[in-house]
Amino acid sequence: MQKSVGFDVEKIRNDFPILQQKINGKPFVFLDSGASAQKPIQVIEAMQKSVYTQYANVHRGVYTMSEAMTDQYEAVRQKIADFMGAVSAEEVVFTKNSTEAINLVAYSFGSLLSQGQGVVISEMEHHANLVPWQMLRDRLGLHLFVAPITDHGDLDLIALEQILLENDIGIVAITHMSNVLGTINPIKMIASMAHQHGAKILIDGSQGIVHQQVNVQDLDVDFYTFTGHKLYGPTGIGILWGKKTLLEQMPPFMGGGDMIERVTFEKSTWAPPPVRFEAGTQPILEVVGLGAAIDYVLSIGYDNIINHDEQLVNYALEKMQAIEGISILGNPEKRGGVIAFTMNDVHAHDIATLLDQNGIAVRAGSHCAEPLLHRLHHTSVARASFGIYTNFQEIDVFIETLKLVQQMFIK
Ligand code: ALA
Repeated sequence: MQKSVGFDVEKIRNDFPILQQKINGKPFVFLDSGASAQKPIQVIEAMQKSVYTQYANVHRGVYTMSEAMTDQYEAVRQKIADFMGAVSAEEVVFTKNSTEAINLVAYSFGSLLSQGQGVVISEMEHHANLVPWQMLRDRLGLHLFVAPITDHGDLDLIALEQILLENDIGIVAITHMSNVLGTINPIKMIASMAHQHGAKILIDGSQGIVHQQVNVQDLDVDFYTFTGHKLYGPTGIGILWGKKTLLEQMPPFMGGGDMIERVTFEKSTWAPPPVRFEAGTQPILEVVGLGAAIDYVLSIGYDNIINHDEQLVNYALEKMQAIEGISILGNPEKRGGVIAFTMNDVHAHDIATLLDQNGIAVRAGSHCAEPLLHRLHHTSVARASFGIYTNFQEIDVFIETLKLVQQMFIK
């Protein structure tokens, strides 16, 4: 059996009890990590330990348990700052997910933009990095520009440069990695282009940080968002990293407890970031879980993660391309562990349903990227996406089952 060099995937799989199950009488082959990744026992146990032995609200109690919980919660903030190469933990805001983090920036940083200024997104954006900017456009009368992609599925950098040259752009909001095409964008270059034209840059890292190591200072971006549940952590916790100088200028997104400095019936003043953006009781256990997920990812190491991901993608692409009637979306210069595809006239939901009958989980539909699918002349496609626990044997099972699905529809 093929193996990734220097990477013991079978050892990793032992940390994910869910993968040992059978689905519809067949071994569970989970190829939908792009939608939400499975969780290792280390994450489950960290959350369980906290809820059994150390749980209280944070930032509110003077008693021992609350102070210990606050220390643990703030230690995770520091861990995330280190993980992302942030200057300080004050730049790390806890949110519900990446969607909320992008909405926060669109609402709050967006309110600092002037009428007539523009925002640039790209054709490959997930709805999460598109709809909040449309809402801002409609609220403030800004312009929303969409940078095109090439037919290979790469961002058209020349067209982006042209938009930046011809317009007063306040912010460029681009995905690190497309959830459909798998394209990994050259963020450092795009950030430099945006800054040369006086624009800020936000990166939607929901998929990107799962497949690439991120250092926000090295990338020289202004905002970077990601979600816990795709990074082997729990749902309900996401991260907005922002440059401190920008966060300090931004008004709150939501009002409530903890985010204030002083409150009277007449008016309120705001706490400094990051707490300014954390109204109400936060997802405390989920923060603990995300901390454990980051420890887990770092224990494997990004060199290993990236190497394994590349080998899986190349292996799967080669085998899929050899099946007549299968078309793969995009052929980007650099692809993370996501392969979207169509099969002759077989509807994506039929492909996914038949794969499921054989224990294989893939996603089908528009993948929260309807405009991108429209650009690619599709309404629905199937997608296989990989995680650190995906092995070559699973790809083989997937390929053989795809061939069976193909034969069923040819007959
Ligand atoms: N954004 C997630 C996906 O691509 C849900 O499947």
